[in-house]
Amino acid sequence: MARTAVMAALGVVAFLAVEVAAKKWTVGDNKFWNPNVNYTVWAQDKHFYLDDWLYFVYERKQYNVIEVNETNYISCNSNNPIANWTHGAGRDVVHLNVTRHYYLISGDGGGCYGGMKLAVLVEKPPPSPAPAPSKNIARRAFTVSGFAPQFVIPVAVFAAIGLVWDNVVLLFW
Ligand SMILES: *[C@@H]1O[C@H](CO)[C@@H](O)[C@H](O)[C@H]1NC(C)=O
Ligand SMILES: *[C@@H]1O[C@H](CO)[C@@H](O)[C@H](O)[C@H]1NC(C)=O
Ligand SMILES: *[C@@H]1O[C@H](CO)[C@@H](O)[C@H](O)[C@H]1NC(C)=O
Ligand SMILES: *[C@@H]1O[C@H](CO)[C@@H](O)[C@H](O)[C@H]1NC(C)=O
Repeated sequence: MARTAVMAALGVVAFLAVEVAAKKWTVGDNKFWNPNVNYTVWAQDKHFYLDDWLYFVYERKQYNVIEVNETNYISCNSNNPIANWTHGAGRDVVHLNVTRHYYLISGDGGGCYGGMKLAVLVEKPPPSPAPAPSKNIARRAFTVSGFAPQFVIPVAVFAAIGLVWDNVVLLFW
């Protein structure tokens, strides 16, 4: 019975790990998908792993998200798209479900000539060290939620102290 419980718990952990492991990248961060942003610079310090998502936020009447090959990426040619990720709302997601290069441009209206071109290489996630596979997953989960462990842990400790303190106050009040 205990074994079943442990197995179930592991199953939940594995499920949560899968749920949080994929990262959704907002392309351009707070500059979003716009001209005059250098997306080569934006991408250069990042690792894009299999099953991550690119999230494009932009002015839907002016721009779009077209996937092309490398040649057409360099020349800003959207006439032979590999895929059209545009859905019309100015909010598009690209699921990076294959380990390869992805070349994405804004085709019409000069967006690409204004710098709206992004090349990413999608990699296999790094293997987690065998003895403690949960560690890497946890770190990545923290990254996804946007809080570093160094921040989360003190906050959790403060919250715990606060809770204890409130109860002590209640007891004596
Ligand atoms: C973006 O930055 C890279 C690296 O600094 C540079 O090589 C490239 O020319 C820049 N692209 C544009 C469109 O300015
Ligand atoms: C990209 O597609 C064009 C045709 O649209 C082709 O001429 C070119 O060779 C292709 N480039 C690569 C790198 O596959
Ligand atoms: C891409 O799809 C959108 C929405 O379906 C459509 O309006 C647009 O014309 C398409 N663009 C290209 C280049 O296929
Ligand atoms: C990846 O996603 C594309 C577009 O949604 C789909 O056509 C393709 O079958 C997927 N490939 C894999 C290996 O899942």
